[in-house]
Amino acid sequence: MLRVFLIISSLLFYVAHGLIDQNSPTYGSHQLITYVVDWDIPKVIPWSKLDHIAYAFAVPDRHGDLKEFDGKQLQQVVQNAHEHGKGVSLSVGGWTGSIYFSSLIRTSNNRRKFAKKIMQAVEKYDLNGVNLDWEYPNDPNGISCNRKHPKDTDNFLAFIQVLRKMLDEQYPDEHKLITAAVSARVFKDADRNVIENLDEGWADFMDAFYIMAYDINGAMSNTTSSNAPLHYGVAGEHVSVESSVQEWLDAGIPSHRLYLGVPFYGYTHKTLQHMNQHTGLNVALDRSIEQIKGDEHDGYSTDPCPGAKPTFSGEYQWRTIEASGIAHNASGWVTYWDEKTQTPFSYHKKSHQFITYDNPSSLRLKSQFAIEKKLGGIMLWSLEMDDDSNSLLNAIQDVRT
Ligand SMILES: *[C@@H]1O[C@H](CO)[C@@H](O)[C@H](O)[C@H]1NC(C)=O
Ligand SMILES: *[C@@H]1O[C@H](CO)[C@@H](O)[C@H](O)[C@H]1NC(C)=O
Repeated sequence: MLRVFLIISSLLFYVAHGLIDQNSPTYGSHQLITYVVDWDIPKVIPWSKLDHIAYAFAVPDRHGDLKEFDGKQLQQVVQNAHEHGKGVSLSVGGWTGSIYFSSLIRTSNNRRKFAKKIMQAVEKYDLNGVNLDWEYPNDPNGISCNRKHPKDTDNFLAFIQVLRKMLDEQYPDEHKLITAAVSARVFKDADRNVIENLDEGWADFMDAFYIMAYDINGAMSNTTSSNAPLHYGVAGEHVSVESSVQEWLDAGIPSHRLYLGVPFYGYTHKTLQHMNQHTGLNVALDRSIEQIKGDEHDGYSTDPCPGAKPTFSGEYQWRTIEASGIAHNASGWVTYWDEKTQTPFSYHKKSHQFITYDNPSSLRLKSQFAIEKKLGGIMLWSLEMDDDSNSLLNAIQDVRT
């Protein structure tokens, strides 16, 4: 009965939404979304191979003022994008930029104030959407000084409704997108458990959920595992792309509102035993040493919370993996394919070093998965990490119709 009701109500909504879209279309299409980061904007943006840019990050301070991004550069990106018929969203928050979300949306007064500040940015930068990247509502994951509240998830939805209304009133001729970058696990309830049935408002008011189906294993794992397994998460709670998409679907979000997030990077660490095709993943990592440095782009840094210790992330970007020959078995590296997770890994025997990442083969499979599941499209983090011939971006073009 509930199922039937859900199907009917989502059909009704689909019709209503279709009408809304007809009256006020979204600027350009929205199937392949690439994040760009303001600290490393690609010199050449391959406009013909993407639909929409999410520009990261504007960080809200305790008053909700959007800080820490390069406004001049954003203006340039928006202008270029519009010349190519592509839209741009400003991404608000991020891993270290989510400290104040909870308090900024806690009361209706706060919600209106914060929504107005976002409206000002939409106006000033001629944006086509807003991407909310709160990592994460009422969730023990995230940096230690993030504000939290049992009602975070409900308040977040209430905030989206306020923002939707303001955007629709201000821009009757263009449907400005409201999207969220979300965890591989569904939003949490007051007790920090995964919500099994999300409020229907989420499907009605959020244009797209960009599922960050990466960082699933890596920094905290005790054994070698896949950063972004398509199937079968090796460690911990066995989270994978497949389980994650299913969890969001089961919670009531229609497939066309879900976007599969894919990484253009992976992680490295040292192992205690050697790896090869026979061992596969799940080999013990050396946790007695500190996180080793990833590629040349990895910095020794700390989050903004009091008492935070600096560390490397161990991140290895695809452009480095490609250029240094790791992907081609050069310089002592051997690259294997893990059948269970459908992702590659590379191993350097002499230095006991392991890297998990995605390559064109694993991304083609993910793109196929997104099509089979009738998802809205693919989001990627992030464009500058691709190689010069856009091997990864090329591998996911199938999702664009
Ligand atoms: C890793 O091992 C340590 C020590 O046995 C344990 O406390 C921790 O929970 C493990 N971490 C994971 C992610 O399994
Ligand atoms: C690298 O070596 C492995 C193991 O011998 C092999 O399976 C793989 O195909 C090689 N990759 C390349 C790109 O030559």
